[in-house]
Amino acid sequence: MTTEAIGLLFIFLLWISYRLRKVGSREQDLPPGPPTVAIIGNLDIFPTVHPYLKLTEWAKAYGDIYSLKLGPKTVVVVSSPRAVRECIDLRGSTMSGRPYMYGVELIYGDAVDLVLVDYGPTWKALRRTVRDALSGEACMRHLPIQHAEATQLMYDFLENPQNFYTHIYSIVEDIDNDMRLIGDLVKPGGTPPIELIPILRYIPERWAPWKAQAREVRALQRRLYFGLLDLCIDRVDNEKRNGCFIEDVLDHQEEYGLDYEKIAYLIGTLMVAGADTTAVYLRFFVACMATYSDVQARAQQEIDSVIGSSRTPEVDDIDSLPFLKAVINEVHRFRPTAPLAIPHTNTVDERIGNFVIPKDSTILLNVWGIYRHEDYFENPNEFLPDRYMRSEYGTKPGVDTTGLRNDYGFGAGRRICPGMHLANNSIILNVMNFLWAFNFNVPKDSVTGEPIAIDLDNNTLDLTLGPNPYECDIKPRSEAKANMIRARFAAAGSTFALFDNQTTVNETSKSK
Ligand SMILES: *[C@@H]1O[C@H](CO)[C@@H](O)[C@H](O)[C@H]1NC(C)=O
Ligand SMILES: *[C@@H]1O[C@H](CO)[C@@H](O)[C@H](O)[C@H]1NC(C)=O
Ligand SMILES: *[C@@H]1O[C@H](CO)[C@@H](O)[C@H](O)[C@H]1NC(C)=O
Ligand SMILES: *[C@@H]1O[C@H](CO)[C@@H](O)[C@H](O)[C@H]1NC(C)=O
Repeated sequence: MTTEAIGLLFIFLLWISYRLRKVGSREQDLPPGPPTVAIIGNLDIFPTVHPYLKLTEWAKAYGDIYSLKLGPKTVVVVSSPRAVRECIDLRGSTMSGRPYMYGVELIYGDAVDLVLVDYGPTWKALRRTVRDALSGEACMRHLPIQHAEATQLMYDFLENPQNFYTHIYSIVEDIDNDMRLIGDLVKPGGTPPIELIPILRYIPERWAPWKAQAREVRALQRRLYFGLLDLCIDRVDNEKRNGCFIEDVLDHQEEYGLDYEKIAYLIGTLMVAGADTTAVYLRFFVACMATYSDVQARAQQEIDSVIGSSRTPEVDDIDSLPFLKAVINEVHRFRPTAPLAIPHTNTVDERIGNFVIPKDSTILLNVWGIYRHEDYFENPNEFLPDRYMRSEYGTKPGVDTTGLRNDYGFGAGRRICPGMHLANNSIILNVMNFLWAFNFNVPKDSVTGEPIAIDLDNNTLDLTLGPNPYECDIKPRSEAKANMIRARFAAAGSTFALFDNQTTVNETSKSK
């Protein structure tokens, strides 16, 4: 080797080590965060199991806006109402992207998903389509089927109470599989970190089981989604409409600018996004009622005085049930179904106060941390619905509540969940029914007769956070109510019939 070559090599090595020295370290003007290690940054300490817990702990140490380095990538965690407003709500046009996720690319390819697609014309077209269909007003049209569904759930609790946990989630197995498989691939560690080390993309198939797995999900999705759309097209062609919103989309297909594939995927998105979120919420609700029997009794008393025993609840009743409303909000706060919402990404460098957040960072909305923020909430780890009786947002007296909301679980900014009104109605109808009709109690040990507590911390996070299966003692509050439920269930038949012809159409109606 010549001296020049050795010299060049030396300079090259110096340059590499200079470049690498900076990888993984926190840039000067980033928000603070835990100390980094060369090259990997905070990868070694980034939590993969129930990450919202550790991220909330760090928020206490590093503040409402802090950063993490995952190799060269930046993650910014936002943990207070003011910070959400500043970072996301007020920067709609530049903070509404979705970070690149390899798992998503593998499953969806060019096909698009309203929830996961990056900010741009396709997102806008899809969003406009669902905005009309899922507006508060349009949701009133979906009430009859939601009523029928909620009646079915009461009926199932009545006839087969020990399977209540499964009844709450009465969706086709295919959708359930679909969600589980998407969850497996999209969660941290589900695929290798291609986002950080792109070359891993070329790992051959036989050492990369996730590739076959992704193909399986993709095939499942396409069979299911296209099948459902075909059924709907058939109904429209044969003048057998049932008022489902896809009929409307088909009527305005050109105007919305959506092709066959996009509409099919829209059906899938709405089913996947709607089914799970409502179910995990209701499971937490039941667990809380059984655990906090004094809260349950008070909510029942309120329902009895407003609704009585001679009729079943209607969605408008909620306006006369302030305590139940407080309980609903407290369950959202206490066990948010989306404790980190869905990550955003920024399309330009953002200056926030003295910080600069580089383009293409991942922005995490720390819903869990916001609802446990001690500046805002008294005893944040306790289940205390009364906090929402004392103030609109359940906060301590004198707190500045600018920007605060009771529903961060639905996300923020322009990407806020368009199905929130539909989900809200479904939750309201179901919990009113539950407390009107049943008493929920923790089970008793069959030998000692001692009550067995439900472990409210025994939960799983995949696409959403939900309680693991638990037991609960569910009994109707009176025989008269039990009979009313049976009668209402029989009467709901005509509503179901519209949706009921084919197995799969049954499930379309469950896209809450
Ligand atoms: C849900 O319903 C409650 C009670 O009517 C209301 O206060 C709240 O604003 C609603 N939220 C959404 C997202 O529609
Ligand atoms: C959590 O719940 C599951 C079943 O629902 C049970 O098998 C497991 O033992 C529970 N874990 C703990 C720590 O109690
Ligand atoms: C169900 O669909 C089949 C064919 O698609 C039709 O013949 C039948 O009349 C339908 N039944 C009801 C109850 O709509
Ligand atoms: C469809 O729904 C009806 C009414 O809820 C139910 O009786 C029927 O078993 C369902 N069919 C399938 C295949 O799930």
